[in-house]
Amino acid sequence: MSEARKILVTSALPYANGSIHLGHMLEYIQTDIWVRFQKMRGNQAAYVCADDAHGSAIMLRAEREGITSEQLIDGVRAEHMADFADFMVNFDNYHSTHSEENRELSSAIYLKLRDAGHIATRPVTQYFDPEKQMFLADRFIKGTCPKCGTADQYGDNCEACGATYAPTELKDPKSAISGATPVLKESLHYFFKLPDFQDMLQQWTRSGTLQDSVANKLAEWLDSGLQEWDISRDAPYFGFEIPDAPGKYFYVWLDAPIGYMASFKNLCARRPELDFDAYWKEGSEAELYHFIGKDIVNFHALFWPAMLQGAGYRKPTAVNVHGYLTVNGQKMSKSRGTFVKARTYLDHLDPEYLRYYYASKLGRGVDDLDLNLEDFVQKVNSDLVGKVVNIASRCAGFIHKGNNGLLVDANPAPELVEAFRTAAPSIAAAYEARDFGRAMREIMALADQANAWIADKAPWSLNKQEGKQDEVQAICALGVNLFRQLVIFLKPVLPKLAEAAEAFLNVAPLKWADHEQLLANHQLNPFNPLMTRIEPAKIEAMIEASKEDLAAANQPTGNGELTKDPLAAEINFDAFAAVDLRIALIEKCEFVEGADKLLRLSLDIGDEKRNVFSGIKSAYPDPSKLEGRLTLYVANLAPRKMKFGISEGMVLAAGPGGEEIYLLSPDSGAKPGQRVK
Ligand code: 2FM
Ligand code: ZN
Repeated sequence: MSEARKILVTSALPYANGSIHLGHMLEYIQTDIWVRFQKMRGNQAAYVCADDAHGSAIMLRAEREGITSEQLIDGVRAEHMADFADFMVNFDNYHSTHSEENRELSSAIYLKLRDAGHIATRPVTQYFDPEKQMFLADRFIKGTCPKCGTADQYGDNCEACGATYAPTELKDPKSAISGATPVLKESLHYFFKLPDFQDMLQQWTRSGTLQDSVANKLAEWLDSGLQEWDISRDAPYFGFEIPDAPGKYFYVWLDAPIGYMASFKNLCARRPELDFDAYWKEGSEAELYHFIGKDIVNFHALFWPAMLQGAGYRKPTAVNVHGYLTVNGQKMSKSRGTFVKARTYLDHLDPEYLRYYYASKLGRGVDDLDLNLEDFVQKVNSDLVGKVVNIASRCAGFIHKGNNGLLVDANPAPELVEAFRTAAPSIAAAYEARDFGRAMREIMALADQANAWIADKAPWSLNKQEGKQDEVQAICALGVNLFRQLVIFLKPVLPKLAEAAEAFLNVAPLKWADHEQLLANHQLNPFNPLMTRIEPAKIEAMIEASKEDLAAANQPTGNGELTKDPLAAEINFDAFAAVDLRIALIEKCEFVEGADKLLRLSLDIGDEKRNVFSGIKSAYPDPSKLEGRLTLYVANLAPRKMKFGISEGMVLAAGPGGEEIYLLSPDSGAKPGQRVK
């Protein structure tokens, strides 16, 4: 065999403020399959990842939960690692961007860029929250769309009319954090001079590092001229302070990709055969691949190679971009229950089903991939259970009963063995090229041939005839061998099935090259079912549970469900004080067409009117009876877009649900708009 390649592979680092869902899993499964294939081929491959732990969103969430940012990211990282492990995503290392290695590398890279003249500074004027004493990123500013006048739109674009604008163009801007009116304030920012790398990037993006469609997209940006990139954020910010710039922090996207290096560095410390410099120094002969989604191409194919080059490191061999996941042909949806968290899936279904389904649909391109749930059940049941596992279960019994589990030396179908042997390089090439869909089709075509041959030989009939026992053993021995070949070819996708098959076959962990020999005169272990069919009811249960997840997670946003938690986690006083509770007068209350549980409430909260959807219909069959009544209202909930319109905040009620829902009321004398303390 030619010398082993040195290959370093990464998947995008997931943010440490949310759960992993099936959209994320597409990328981790894709990458994991590719890495497992490389390892089976005998290459030195390392797969590293980490949680992307910095940024203001994480800082603010920790604050809301009354914990430190460190506590938040530690908890989320543990959850992420468990999800990945249970999906058999086999990282060599899973680190955090909030690590010493990353702090050192980020500072060192920044200093090299600065000393080489690639950093500029200049003042920037931005919205500042005078109450929170912090600058506001665009998504933390809300206001009225300057184009269409829709209220409660984010600082950079309008959900109603699609307009994009600067936050300073919003009418009546408010801080989404405190509700305060932001003021404009100036501050010194640090910029990475991306235009210094224009020529390098023109060349690099066209040198086989990117899929054509990605390179074409980048060419549009490159041709219109690159801008300097703002890499600093002012305190308070959860991140690394910029060397020699007190109170200034690296923007999360500066140290995130450096997190790939940091995770690898952390791995090198416990794996002596891996040498950090051999993988990262300029001129390195190791290969470096990043697997990412199409939304973060600019960070990986413009900023990142420029940073690496500017700091004297090698650039990626390739950036492999995939499309988004849709479910049943549509964007994943919380209300439809198709926004499925990794853990919810695992509670109901075998991870290998999804690994196989994704593999069967993944190509080299950036097209979106649809998880069609009916097709998913059908394909997994027919291919894996009906074709692959079926071969072993058809043959094993005869070998155990007829020959004590001893597999004889026989090849009664040399042409079939030859077909498997000649298919191997093509399947390997498909894996190498990330054309997993083609690999799966070729493997299933072989499984079809094997099944057709066994059906034709019908060992179950022969076995009833006198003097045919040797023939039965020969057929079944080859059947088991063909099954073993299929398992080798599928092992990158189905590591758990492969492990169970290795136990049955009584063999050491299978490598790719093992397909070249057949087992002969070999003792098998007892056969246990390797995989069971997907029951459609499990899918339904998963979808239902995903709707429930939503009820729990979004309960305070007025989605129509009352909370079921007996006792919520303890919060500190600040978290409590952050809730803007008001007295509201229900001016109007009516049914919502097409909604089973909801009523639409028009509230007077003093000097403003608010529209709220509330899931209290079952308790108030005559909504007009609520009109004129005072209740308690959460005024500073982020507005929630629902099928029927936007719900702005929520009203408070008690009770278990159904008819037993009791809307809260203040004592008489309270006035609309008064704050509840
Ligand atoms: O888009 C995201 O989810 C980012 N957390 C990905 C970071 S990838 C890398 F550059 F760190
Ligand atoms: Zn608008």
